[in-house]
Amino acid sequence: MAQDNIESTLLENRRFPPSDAFTRSTRMQAQTLDQLYDKAAADHEGFWGDMARQEIDWFKPFDQVLDSDNAPFYRWFENGELNVSYNCLDRQLETNADKTAIIFEGEPGDVEHISYRELYQKVCIFANALKNQGVSKGDRVIIYMPMITEAVVAMQACARIGAIHSVVFGGFSASALKDRIEDTSAKMVITADGGHRGGKIITLKETADQALAEGCDSVETVIVFRRCGNDITMQADRDIWWHDAEKNQPEHCPAQAMQASDPLFLLYTSGSTGKPKGIQHASAGYLLNAITTMRWVFDIQSADVFWCTADVGWITGHTYVAYGPLATGSTMVIYEGVPTVPDAGRFWDVCARHGVTIFYTAPTAIRALMKAGDAIPKSYDLSRLRLLGTVGEPINPEAWMWYHEVIGQSRCPIVDTWWQTETGAHMIAPVPGVTVTKPGSCTKALPGIDAAVVNENGEEITQANQGGFLVIRKPWPSMIQTIWGDDQRYKDTYWPYFDGKYYLAGDSARRDEDGYFWIMGRIDDVLNVSGHRLGTMEIESALVAHQSVAEAAVVGKPHDIKGESVFAYVVLKGNRPDGGVDEAMTAELRAWVADQIGPIAKPDDIRYADNLPKTRSGKIMRRLLRTIAKGEQITQDTSTLENESILLQLQGKA
Ligand code: WTA
Repeated sequence: MAQDNIESTLLENRRFPPSDAFTRSTRMQAQTLDQLYDKAAADHEGFWGDMARQEIDWFKPFDQVLDSDNAPFYRWFENGELNVSYNCLDRQLETNADKTAIIFEGEPGDVEHISYRELYQKVCIFANALKNQGVSKGDRVIIYMPMITEAVVAMQACARIGAIHSVVFGGFSASALKDRIEDTSAKMVITADGGHRGGKIITLKETADQALAEGCDSVETVIVFRRCGNDITMQADRDIWWHDAEKNQPEHCPAQAMQASDPLFLLYTSGSTGKPKGIQHASAGYLLNAITTMRWVFDIQSADVFWCTADVGWITGHTYVAYGPLATGSTMVIYEGVPTVPDAGRFWDVCARHGVTIFYTAPTAIRALMKAGDAIPKSYDLSRLRLLGTVGEPINPEAWMWYHEVIGQSRCPIVDTWWQTETGAHMIAPVPGVTVTKPGSCTKALPGIDAAVVNENGEEITQANQGGFLVIRKPWPSMIQTIWGDDQRYKDTYWPYFDGKYYLAGDSARRDEDGYFWIMGRIDDVLNVSGHRLGTMEIESALVAHQSVAEAAVVGKPHDIKGESVFAYVVLKGNRPDGGVDEAMTAELRAWVADQIGPIAKPDDIRYADNLPKTRSGKIMRRLLRTIAKGEQITQDTSTLENESILLQLQGKA
């Protein structure tokens, strides 16, 4: 993947300056941006301190911008007190109460407009319901919901009372949900009977019941929102309907004063080893960068209709659905379903009908919709669009050009935003009225973000187009605080080199002659499938947990639409199937992985062998497996293999 990406992007020398019209209308002019860069370079802490005073309503001002005493456990805005939900809702009431906060569209086509006043009331009532059910500050609450307004209400309600939410993507299985419930020792699970997705009903409550069937002793209450009206069973003494929990709850709920560093949420993401890790984010710093990036990168203005298509189960849905748009008093669209129901025009239909001006999605969606042909988007009125964005994986220049010409009608700048669950908000991205963009490059680091490409000694690589480790050399407000319950793993994963001074992103990158960043891919065993992070180890563990599997190795294979697909090599406990083909077993293993993790982790290919290729020290030769998955010529040294004949098996030739 990395290699293919380099090849196609190395040839890329087209440049796209913002149009005069865009530049005239934008909030951020070149001169202002230069001032921000200068100020941040001269006084990193002073810069972020001023930003925090300007953008956040504090209950009590902070007395120290950054406490680095216990690095890398950095603490921002020490002793400051605030509430994130207050900053999203209460402060909009004075001037924006009647403004639409959310335009919700369900997959079946139901539409609802919710004003800031209504959203405030919904959040307050539900926050009171949570308190009434015994949730208090610091408690963990799991949210396992469809992509509907109530998912955001639940998140905001937790933030309002100081409970720490952990949203689990609705596509994850019972076993993945259980792991997260147990790791957080959550007191409560908030779910729905079901959600509409892909023309079907996703039975969330049923899956939650399976997750809770064994263990999960910490969970006292399950709140269930009625979305689809599908049949479910309610367990007495544990389950309560959302509308019952809200009965007689007051319309106001005071926003709990929180310390700047109190955790706002945990979000699980895949790493190279072991189980998914709970990325912990702080209240103030996270909120600050959600706001600054809404302004700098999305140029958000009061008349905009902003639509980020990500699910709240991912970081993008946290920062650019649940928090950033509300904290800036914006109007946003929330859409429940998939882009292809009832047909591949759905996204463009939603844009046209709701007058979307800023549209943010993943390259995998762009590639899939591009495949459906130009006629579809051309049949919708996309003239209100003024800015487009992408996130989650490298975008190939072909898809970028299509997005630019067909969706943006060559009028809209594209912001290709590089960031991670751990960084909380955009780190490297264009400022649309200023930056000249190049298809495939996320361009430059934002003000106050010290991103660099370094070699293994931590020295900055100054030679153009020479690849290296992508690092961030100074702490920034929305940075990960720690891995929930595992400080050591946090240190080992993100600060292993360079005297623990630089944050190691886990990506490789290069910078071109203009200093633009080009992301090349992960340096660890993390796959990026349709913009979703999956650990190869996680899938391997799921496979070997199956009674028939002795050993498994998983690698990524380049894929037209998904970016990467999951390719698994499996050694069965019994004999290798004749000719390496066993369709029944393959179907069973795919279903098994979907059950263990979720359908996104299902291997696209499974190849059976008697053995896996290993080095003398017993390490699986993943590079070789990647080459084979791609169907390329083997150039690696294979003389150390125990049994050369397995090469033919691995290649599917025997
Ligand atoms: C990849 C998603 C290239 C990268 C916000 C990163 C990207 C991982 C881009 C984080 C981009 C994200 N160009 N690659 N614009 N954005 N990535 O935690 O490998 O789900 O490390 O956060 O996605 O994925 P995560």
